[in-house]
Amino acid sequence: MIKVDFSKSKVEEEIKKFDKNRVQKVHEMIENKTGLGNDFLGWLDWPENYNKEEYAKMKEVASRLRKEIDVLLVIGIGGSYLGARAADEMIRGLYHTDKVELIYIGNTISSSYTKQVLDYLKGKEFAIANISKSGTTTEPGIAFRVFEKYLIDSKSKEVAKSRIVAVTDKAKGALKQLADGEGYQTFTIPDDIGGRFSVFTPVGIFPLLVAGVDTDSLFKGSQKAMKDLKSLDNSAYHYAVARYILHTQKGYASETLVSYELQMQMFNEWWKQLFGESEGKDGKGLFPTSCVFSTDLHSLGQFIQDGTKNVLFETIIDVKHPQEDINVPTNEQNLDGLNYLTKNSFHKINQTALEGVLEAHSITGGVPNIVIEFEKMDAEMFGYAIYWFMKAVAMSGYLLEINPFNQPGVEVYKQNMFKLLKKPGY
Ligand code: PA5
Repeated sequence: MIKVDFSKSKVEEEIKKFDKNRVQKVHEMIENKTGLGNDFLGWLDWPENYNKEEYAKMKEVASRLRKEIDVLLVIGIGGSYLGARAADEMIRGLYHTDKVELIYIGNTISSSYTKQVLDYLKGKEFAIANISKSGTTTEPGIAFRVFEKYLIDSKSKEVAKSRIVAVTDKAKGALKQLADGEGYQTFTIPDDIGGRFSVFTPVGIFPLLVAGVDTDSLFKGSQKAMKDLKSLDNSAYHYAVARYILHTQKGYASETLVSYELQMQMFNEWWKQLFGESEGKDGKGLFPTSCVFSTDLHSLGQFIQDGTKNVLFETIIDVKHPQEDINVPTNEQNLDGLNYLTKNSFHKINQTALEGVLEAHSITGGVPNIVIEFEKMDAEMFGYAIYWFMKAVAMSGYLLEINPFNQPGVEVYKQNMFKLLKKPGY
């Protein structure tokens, strides 16, 4: 479902010559779970080993809620919301016509945004999926207080009980205790799966079920990827090796993930978290950035084409089959001179833009380009792609000799903030 073209990466030969023993050793470290952070490799087999009973229960709760609500508030930050949002937008599009809307909160401390969501909910039927593995994260914690109170005040304790679902650790943590105390439905985030690797657990699956996404197909895609990427010679590892060479041997500091589909913007955001939080440590790692073309060709395109050299390379996601396509209508007067495009569909023009930009950036501009072909934008493709990138980051992180599964740097700001807010004990 994914094909990668390295012909414009400027390191095609180096990839072929890269030490196969090194890749094999890392592959064994991943598969045998012997590397750094090996207690967080539960995601590897999850597409096959996921809890089937819990999945059935999630379907039951989601189908009841779909009948009752207009909005599901997804409360979570980082790995606790980005996967669901990436899937929601990539699969359903930005202006879907499904009855249930997902709104994301607890991913910011912005008072304006939080109040705007509160106001938007007036007169709407809503439920809450409160997602936090630790149960102690500040942003979702304070958002939950606000919206739980609003649900109870505007409806009743009884309604809140039937409309609040907690996705959290199976036993420990404040959220589990709170949910059990109030009688809220809980679903479990497995101990050995970290936030940014948790899309296939209830973290991603429960909100997507409420959104009416075909999660069976999503699992099917992840299972396919799991099978395809068991072998040593796979495209996710080639991608990891290419990035490693561009970073450590050619000196590139940043990778830009480029999509030509607006509904892939949150997929880019998910990818940035996966690679940024997994690799950016011990003074190492590529700085992950993203663009949507042709939109950003009218802003960042200038820099990529013509700005400081040898800083960034591009990884393009080329979606072969769009969800929809439309034609450019003929205009008799043709004042804008665009009638020459009427034999083309929008997708054809978009694909031609991709071809032209690829040539301009890589040949004229000298910027390395890796092209990743996605067949389509549906649930199966999403499941496949997520697993593919997770396997790539495991290889990539271990090649850099860091632990891809922790995030010690994130703690520093929290400690400072707690001290300033006078949290007891800080
Ligand atoms: O990937 C990660 O582990 C993080 O981004 C977490 O998901 C994020 O910090 C939220 O943590 P929690 O789910 O404990 O609230």
